[in-house]
Amino acid sequence: MSDVTETRRCFLGRVASGVTLASLGTRNAVAHEAGESRSQYPNPDFNPDVELELTAAESTAQLFAGDATRIWRFTGTVLKGDPRAFTMLPGDLIPVIRVRNHQRVRIFFHNELPEETIVHWHGLHIVQKMDGHPMYAIRSGQRYIYEFVVNNRAGTYWFHPHPHQRTGIQVYAGLAGLFIVDDDEGAGNGLPSGEFERAWVLQDRSFDASNQLVYAGGHMEMMMGFTGDRILVNGRPDHVERVAATAYRVRVLNGSNSRFYKLAWSDDRPLTVIGADGGLLEGPVDKPYVMLAPAERVELWLDFSGDTLGTDRVLRSLPFSGGMMGMMGMGRGMSGGGGMRGRGRGMRGGRGMMGMSGLANGDAFDVLKVRVDRIGDKPNELPSKLSSISWPRIEDAANRNAPRTIQMQMGMGQLSLNGRTFEMEGVASDEIVKLDTTEVWEFANVSGSMSHPMHLHNVQFKVVARLQDSQLESVYDTMRAGLVDEGWKDVVIVMPGERVRVLMRFTDHIGLYLYHCHILEHEDMGMMRNYQVSV
Ligand code: C2O
Ligand code: CU
Ligand code: CU
Repeated sequence: MSDVTETRRCFLGRVASGVTLASLGTRNAVAHEAGESRSQYPNPDFNPDVELELTAAESTAQLFAGDATRIWRFTGTVLKGDPRAFTMLPGDLIPVIRVRNHQRVRIFFHNELPEETIVHWHGLHIVQKMDGHPMYAIRSGQRYIYEFVVNNRAGTYWFHPHPHQRTGIQVYAGLAGLFIVDDDEGAGNGLPSGEFERAWVLQDRSFDASNQLVYAGGHMEMMMGFTGDRILVNGRPDHVERVAATAYRVRVLNGSNSRFYKLAWSDDRPLTVIGADGGLLEGPVDKPYVMLAPAERVELWLDFSGDTLGTDRVLRSLPFSGGMMGMMGMGRGMSGGGGMRGRGRGMRGGRGMMGMSGLANGDAFDVLKVRVDRIGDKPNELPSKLSSISWPRIEDAANRNAPRTIQMQMGMGQLSLNGRTFEMEGVASDEIVKLDTTEVWEFANVSGSMSHPMHLHNVQFKVVARLQDSQLESVYDTMRAGLVDEGWKDVVIVMPGERVRVLMRFTDHIGLYLYHCHILEHEDMGMMRNYQVSV
């Protein structure tokens, strides 16, 4: 048994042995030549409403007392259009691009990282070449020019790097931002706005004794997905959100590599969900807790008007049946690991042996505190109708009687989709869909005991069925009441043994798009495939 700290590596800068995590992936194994003059020049016929500069570069942040932490981060500026099109969340580490539907957007992306990268606009419905597929990765020092017309309803989308086998580590190093789209309906019939709209990007990290990030070390940790033992909100630890005693609209992104959150108030009051990945729900729904898998977004209506000034409310992540349980035949127990802080715990129970951090998926912990520190106006009533949605209909699905099935497999040290792993430009004959058709896809989790968040590029879908394995009721019961299947989705949690059917329409763009597990270690290990939309 080796201590967990020995199986991990510092990756930004060198550790004593001179090893960086560059050795982790096979970053030079990319078959294509990165960045061959693809989208290097602006199109003179494209007249943008919003023009931005976005740079990914090495940086540092003072996250703790003592040494600054080496991170990678996005910075940006607005060259043309509304200056609010690029801002930073409080804490200055997480960028927000904010545009209106139908706007024409040009983004000059500069790669100042020491390795190749490319940016993906998660949730956006845009042409292949602008989607940030790893085949478009650019080398260090190069730029990529994105030009696209926004074609999404109002919602909380996001962006992150998507290079071959390096997505996990680049997001972990600090590269993630929100991409908010507004439209006339997005205000939700008078939801709180301006100062009364907030955003929380939830991520977990591990740090060494000199405050440097530590990432997954071994194969087992990649298989299980990396989990850190410090929770960051908007890039920083120990988050306290200061609010007035009134109602807020809060957008929440799970920007973690592999951690699932089971969000709930410590005092058991329900959470009011008003939005999902692809914007507002038709009406609000109360849930005892909210499950949020990597890459999922949720919008909450939080009413603090009844709270006593000076009181803190704690948003927690409750225990649930995480990945370890069952898989290794180890009862992890449902007792909380909340309050575990600090670093260098090393082994606890079986975790060190597994190369896992001290806070596994399914453990309990505190996420953040809300401090009501001033009086506020009596909030408007929560609208019972938030938006209208015209859903695709199952009767219109070309394959309504024979869903396209994707088996999510995990075994022999491999993760795969229908037995295949990622190929840069490869697409199989059963991965081709026809433009302008509606389809049902079924994700079948036959991988054992882990839940996987499945994501499709290019579309938003509707979750139409969950076909559950009756022997796993007790696992489902720890998550079921918190699944947000009511809205437009681009990521869906598929629990162990479950088959989840989603319905979507493929419109506007032909080309290659990705579908994958959004546990970033799984994506990097090849639990990702192309699908092709063709005429
Ligand atoms: Cu959020 Cu293919 O990714
Ligand atoms: Cu995506
Ligand atoms: Cu997965």
